Amino acid sequence: MRIDILTIFPEFFGQVFDFGIIRRARLANIVEINVVDIREFATDKHRMTDDRPFGGGDGMVMKAEPIFNAIEHLLGTSERKSFPVGTRVVLLSPQGRPLKQAGVRELADSTSYLVMICGRYEGVDERVNEALITDEISIGDYVLSGGEPAAVVLADVVIRLLPDALGSATSAENDSFSNELLDCPHYTRPAEFRGMRVPDVLLSGDHAEIEKWRRRMALEKTKKNRPDLLIGENGEM
Ligand code: ADE
Repeated sequence: MRIDILTIFPEFFGQVFDFGIIRRARLANIVEINVVDIREFATDKHRMTDDRPFGGGDGMVMKAEPIFNAIEHLLGTSERKSFPVGTRVVLLSPQGRPLKQAGVRELADSTSYLVMICGRYEGVDERVNEALITDEISIGDYVLSGGEPAAVVLADVVIRLLPDALGSATSAENDSFSNELLDCPHYTRPAEFRGMRVPDVLLSGDHAEIEKWRRRMALEKTKKNRPDLLIGENGEM
């Protein structure tokens, strides 16, 4: 997969993709990440990337032109007139549809080229949305200072689902949200730490019992922290 991230703060991404699974995926050429400075595509002498909103009001709006120029530059460098079929152009914004694991899975499975545009200020000129964006995505019901942290989140969650990115093929299947429950608790050595013992069943070697325990604990954790995940369409638990 190729991921291009368009931002006015390219330094923000410094080393953020240089660790763990994401680093390994890059080194193995499972993903190539390219950070593009929108400011380089501003044409006026002050390299402005934002301006006051038509109609008045607080804050500034990101201008359409530098973003269009940056995208057209990407098309040019790929020596094609349009993006490869299936390319997804994502705007990270609090107005987007909420990011869920099923949506992440869909992105990881269906595209090999993901372009992300990081919004800032009060928003992005809506003509960017109208002409360029295939997906407007929010990572949660809160307002970040900009789309950059959201782009890091989106890149991370997608990359770890790419074929061969995780060490073991089963790791992602047991993640929270991959089924209807949160993940169960995990323990590692020592079996006793500061008087706290690992549940006996995990030391028993009885795999059927361990599976039952994990399922029960996953259910308990889900009830406690995310009861909304257990409520059916008719409101029953
Ligand atoms: N930009 C600002 N807030 C955001 C959010 N919650 N998700 C994605 N991008 C954002």
